[in-house]
Amino acid sequence: MTRIAVVEGDGIGHEVIPVAQKALEVLHPEYEYFPVEVGYGRWEQTGCPCADRDIAALRTADAVLFGAVTTPPMKDYQSVVLRIRKALDLYANLRPVKGDGFDMMIARENTEGLYSGIEEIGPDRATTLRVVTRAGTKRIVREGIRLAQQRGENLTIGHKANVLKSDVFFRDICVAEAKMAGVSCTEKLIDALCLDILQHPEKYDVIVTTNIFGDILSDVASYLIGGLGLVPSANIGDRYALFEPVHGSAPDIAGKNIANPIATLRSAAMLLEHLGDTGGAVRIESAIQQVLASGTRTRDLGGSAGTREFGDAVLRVIGNQG
Ligand code: NAD
Ligand code: IPM
Ligand code: MN
Repeated sequence: MTRIAVVEGDGIGHEVIPVAQKALEVLHPEYEYFPVEVGYGRWEQTGCPCADRDIAALRTADAVLFGAVTTPPMKDYQSVVLRIRKALDLYANLRPVKGDGFDMMIARENTEGLYSGIEEIGPDRATTLRVVTRAGTKRIVREGIRLAQQRGENLTIGHKANVLKSDVFFRDICVAEAKMAGVSCTEKLIDALCLDILQHPEKYDVIVTTNIFGDILSDVASYLIGGLGLVPSANIGDRYALFEPVHGSAPDIAGKNIANPIATLRSAAMLLEHLGDTGGAVRIESAIQQVLASGTRTRDLGGSAGTREFGDAVLRVIGNQG
């Protein structure tokens, strides 16, 4: 029996996840879906945003469908999604951005870099240690190389090796691995890359980069296709996999039924792809395209459909696909 852990989390997670879960349920009524409650809301109620038993529950699933969690900028609060990514060793964060004439895949290292968690706040100085390991770099660049080979395209390394010695290390390992694999590889400084993907998105295919640069680059890239409501992601490790929109809990629009559920629907499609159901993934994407083409859109795309209305329209199309 295939088991899917479903995490709504906080904010618009409570609105977009039910849409995506319903789509999965229509395509796979035989799967078992079970909720796992974590996040800031849970912390407010119980003082604990994510317990060890929640991590254990996620480990029992074949895949996790994840909404978003609120992470307040507080000294002693640890981001739940970062904890889960580390606990499940989900080292590859894959963020596809596909539009008219371009199709890029940001392969973001997801377990180290500036998110090492080695940090402290002193009375007059605060530090965060940026950790780049050989093993961590090899496994993300090998994933990037695998994707580039599969897609028959090239690899771009995004880094800041002109300033950061940890990125000289990252870059050198990436270049050596690409050379060994016979994959054509270019490189670009991350700041210039942020602009160039907007001006010349067609030049890019797989972009491999470190943790926080991939975080920023993917929000930037979302501009190319209409914003954060549209970009999904897969967090992949050797044993576990979690699928979530790139956006967060969006407290500014939460509870209003206006969030765009497309990023989460696409994350559900990536989940199906991961479980081997490419047909199901295609059905979700073509239903999204059909509903958009009919003029039904949420507010972020200039329309007036609510989250639920857009979701229902997608579900109807999936149900009629025959
Ligand atoms: P955000 O992604 O939540 O929102 C940024 C902007 O995009 C907001 O104006 C929001 O309304 C809009 N937006 C986001 N998703 C949308 C959607 N589906 N439809 C329409 N508009 C959408 O980023 P933020 O405001 O910087 O962060 C809010 C909270 O979310 C923070 O606590 C942050 O830590 C958290 N966060 C969590 C995750 C995650 O759980 N993976 C990811 C990013 C941010
Ligand atoms: C994302 C988010 C997270 C990240 C935060 C909420 C920890 O911004 O998934 O893009 O930085 O990875
Ligand atoms: Mn982000």
